[in-house]
Amino acid sequence: MTPVIRAATGADLAAVAGIYGHYVTGSTATFELTAPDTAAWANKLAGLQAAGWPFLVAEVNGEVLGFAYVGPWRPRPAYAATVEDTIYLDPAATGRGIGSRLLTELLDHAQEAGAREVIAVIADAESTASLALHRRAGFSEAGRLERVGRKFDRWLGTTLLQKSLN
Ligand SMILES: CC(C)(COP(=O)(O)OP(=O)(O)OC[C@H]1O[C@@H](n2cnc3c(N)ncnc32)[C@H](O)[C@@H]1OP(=O)(O)O)[C@@H](O)C(=O)NCCC(=O)NCCS
Repeated sequence: MTPVIRAATGADLAAVAGIYGHYVTGSTATFELTAPDTAAWANKLAGLQAAGWPFLVAEVNGEVLGFAYVGPWRPRPAYAATVEDTIYLDPAATGRGIGSRLLTELLDHAQEAGAREVIAVIADAESTASLALHRRAGFSEAGRLERVGRKFDRWLGTTLLQKSLN
């Protein structure tokens, strides 16, 4: 299954909201507690586009099965060339290489847009695929934060991974 990887448009955002909403309500992959609606995603897309950062979708047979973007790691201006990546696939589309293709393209676009360092923040639980995905893409472990999130009545830590693009 070879996905088409392309820039996201407003027409993709209902699918994006649906994919992300699944992980918000059913997993600890994200620390978000309430699923953003399509309007919130439109704001996110507009902000990233205005800043020049990539927001990509993976499409198979005309269906959006995943999305990925990079955005600012921290708001202060000296961090301007450091970004955090976000990547989510439809649960029915995982484990088939789509995430790897999407992340590879995302990193290429991020580099073209001026990113030098990329940080992945991976929550403790349910993280095997994301850790494998990022390690395979050349990320290495940069540190851990313990008990920084609470979801489903559990304290959760994060692992930080980092990749240099230059
Ligand atoms: C993380 C995610 C984007 C990876 O995309 P994917 O298409 O499933 O991954 P791929 O098929 O490209 O495989 C990438 C690596 O992950 C491994 N992997 C994939 N699914 C896995 C699973 N369920 N369990 C363990 N490893 C898994 C693959 O074996 C591969 O590793 P390898 O190269 O060492 O063999 C996707 O699984 C996903 O959306 N997961 C839920 C949301 C999430 O965790 N997002 C990341 C938040 S930081």
